[in-house]
Amino acid sequence: MEFVDQLKSSIDIVKVIGEYVRLKRSGSSGRWIGLCPFHQEKTPSFSVNQTRQFFKCFGCGKGGDALNFVMEIDGLTFPEALKFLAERNGIPMPRRAEYSDEESKLRAALYEIHAIAASFYQANLRDPRGAEARAYLERRGVGAEMIETFALGYADSSGQSLARRLAQERFTSREIEASGLIRRREDGSTYDFFRGRLMFPIHNDAGKVIAFGGRALRDEDQPKYLNSSETPIYRKSSVLYNAHRARDGMRRSARAILVEGYMDVIGVYSAGIKEVVAPCGTAFTDAQVRLIHRHADAVVMSFDPDSAGARATEQRAQLILDEGLHIRVVTLDGGLDPDEYIKEHGADAYRKKLEEASGYFYWLADRARARFDMRSAEGRMDAFKFLLPTVNKISDKLERAAIAGDLAGYLGVDPGLVLDQFKKAAAERRAPAAAPAAPAIPALERILLTALLASDEARGQMLPRLAGEVTQNFVSREIFDALRHAENSTYSALEGRLSPAARDLLHLLLSADEKMEEAVALEQAEACLRRLEADRRKQRVAELRARVKQAEREGRVEEALGIIAELEKIRKHGEPGAGE
Ligand code: UTP
Ligand code: MN
Repeated sequence: MEFVDQLKSSIDIVKVIGEYVRLKRSGSSGRWIGLCPFHQEKTPSFSVNQTRQFFKCFGCGKGGDALNFVMEIDGLTFPEALKFLAERNGIPMPRRAEYSDEESKLRAALYEIHAIAASFYQANLRDPRGAEARAYLERRGVGAEMIETFALGYADSSGQSLARRLAQERFTSREIEASGLIRRREDGSTYDFFRGRLMFPIHNDAGKVIAFGGRALRDEDQPKYLNSSETPIYRKSSVLYNAHRARDGMRRSARAILVEGYMDVIGVYSAGIKEVVAPCGTAFTDAQVRLIHRHADAVVMSFDPDSAGARATEQRAQLILDEGLHIRVVTLDGGLDPDEYIKEHGADAYRKKLEEASGYFYWLADRARARFDMRSAEGRMDAFKFLLPTVNKISDKLERAAIAGDLAGYLGVDPGLVLDQFKKAAAERRAPAAAPAAPAIPALERILLTALLASDEARGQMLPRLAGEVTQNFVSREIFDALRHAENSTYSALEGRLSPAARDLLHLLLSADEKMEEAVALEQAEACLRRLEADRRKQRVAELRARVKQAEREGRVEEALGIIAELEKIRKHGEPGAGE
């Protein structure tokens, strides 16, 4: 068997996708549904078919098998996707050139370089050279366990040691420079990008090191944090620090704690709260919200009140609301960030703050209170109106109304006025996007195809009887042709023979809720064929009648009689006339 087929047959797409998307079983037909990771949505239109081993999103149209999924979601090339799934499932991968194009080779080298760099930095921290960094960590209360868990390390200040370490391996200079960890000066000499810094490795979802953040040990060293630049394996905007360790916690608690930086993550994690993540020194993005949404449906924002600022909190909250997640906001007193707060008041005090975190709307209402004159009715109404656009983003109607009611009460606004505002907003709300187009395959074709896909027997018996001229006008003609030529009717066997449009049809067909028992497939297929033949006969009769009329009109009596005889034959034998 081809390696690709072997791989496909030994993995389960539900398990593969389940790592990225929370899937729920839908009915008993091997169908699972969840929120599409490829576009923004609040109700699930992403479906995974376990029987057929493929996925389809009816919202954005993306679909394919497990390999297509990981290629799309992790931006992998085909060979990388093969390698990734093979590694994950302990299947040995043949070393063949066809499985490694240039791009994949470069990225494989970059992963390796980062893994080597990470253990190199870790070793440095334990080394006599790491004394200053160890003392720094101790001063900041980061114990051995967290140092180990977060694989913290130290880049010494020589500026040459990583370069020397990497030179022992067989990397090309192009690969080494592409990592960004080693830079080249104009005179051609090279130097380590991170020097004299405490190193925080940044991992991807699969737990591989893809970048670093490096903290200066002394105040005079600037910038405080230096971060890896983007590389073919590191896209900052879609990575969250600690995401791979936080995943199980996020799933268990259905929430993520969003903090500002590396040290906050470590502080909160050490307090036993593992579902904590942070951006890596960049703005918070919708891709990061979606990353969270794969595992959780609420975000608790726990920012350093000074550095983030209320305005930034609002902007981030908007991204989170747009993705349909719930938000709460932690307010820590004393201008402390979560890390400092935990050091000062202890893990329990912070956990209590988390549990008390107010809903985002109350947090926002407090901001509105401070901004408007709450002594006058207009001021209170203004405060309410200030909140309304945000409230209107809540997709669930009941929840929206409940929150608006609560807020009106909280701000002391007349409920009648609130209702008016609401009606106005509802009228302005645009109509919901149209549902995706229904399958454009006519019913007979659809049932016939479903039958042939459901049963090998039906396929074996019917295909020879389905002459090309029967299917040539089918919308799904290509699928029938593929069925004729493929060895079996698995999705993977068919998919490669189809144009993108036909593949879409196949997706629609296979994802439809219709399911046919194998036992009735042949019978159903035969019924379809009879109907199709009857339709063809009717059509043929109608054509012949039209030709008789025309011949009569034009005085070609002999021809008309000939056609009438043919019509007679059809009527007697139920056979369509010989083809044209
Ligand atoms: P903070 O300045 O709040 O630092 O920056 P911190 O995380 O609390 O770290 P300590 O406690 O001072 O050691 C928050 C985050 O912003 C990014 C880093 O990701 C940092 O963790 N940052 C900050 C940078 O990327 N560069 C900087 O120069 C500063
Ligand atoms: Mn801090």
